[in-house]
Amino acid sequence: MKKLLIANWKMYLKEKQTLDLIKKYKERLKKFSQLEIVVAPSDLYLIKSAELLKKTKLKLAAQNIAQIEEGALTGEVSAEMAHEIGCKYTIVGHSERRIHLNETDDQINKKINLAYNNGLTPILCIGETLKDKVDENRDTVLTVQLRNALSKVNGLPEKELLIAYEPVWAIGTGKTMEAEEMLTINRLIKRIISSLYSESFYENKVKLLYGGSINSINAKEFWLNEVVDGLLVGSASIDNEQTYNIAHSSL
Ligand code: 13P
Repeated sequence: MKKLLIANWKMYLKEKQTLDLIKKYKERLKKFSQLEIVVAPSDLYLIKSAELLKKTKLKLAAQNIAQIEEGALTGEVSAEMAHEIGCKYTIVGHSERRIHLNETDDQINKKINLAYNNGLTPILCIGETLKDKVDENRDTVLTVQLRNALSKVNGLPEKELLIAYEPVWAIGTGKTMEAEEMLTINRLIKRIISSLYSESFYENKVKLLYGGSINSINAKEFWLNEVVDGLLVGSASIDNEQTYNIAHSSL
């Protein structure tokens, strides 16, 4: 099975920077056939990005989709629109949206359903804040986030699901978790998913990713961890050289 390297470009890059970086990714990353490489640029540049990615193995993800199918929701982009222009994936429930835009578990659940209904594979982000961690509430927070996001989802357990564990305290802070800790996270998520669906669904259809201050130095220990199916990378992924080194460290 190919491991995933997903580049979340957040709101970092303007049009020329986005398209230039895609061209560099195409050139430098094509030799890493052991990885599925996915880029998530701003919505504004998805169409041009999709054009550049035609006939390459790189895949496209939206950073977000709307929580309704279509209609009156100013400023949003629907799952169908994202799929129509060539996205394979969509990130759902990123902590930056949960925290700064008050995105709720209920909205996240609707987005997951809409993603599946419209041919997208969701990359569901979960993670505890520093306060949750200090208060030893991590497992409770993750359990609630997962149960709420995944309750009564159309299409499961048949379809693939990506779960990105991104501890909020590790995002953009330069602090990462010990890669070993992913074993505990994996056990917890497996227990919850097995109770919601089945253990075989978890084993066969769910991929577990880590995200939070990944760079070319710390990526290797996560690649080496047997329960980690991929990495969701933010700021390091806007640097072509770092991304090359992150991909290289998976060999
Ligand atoms: P950083 O890699 O910048 O910490 O961001 C991680 C992230 O939020 C990916 O979705």
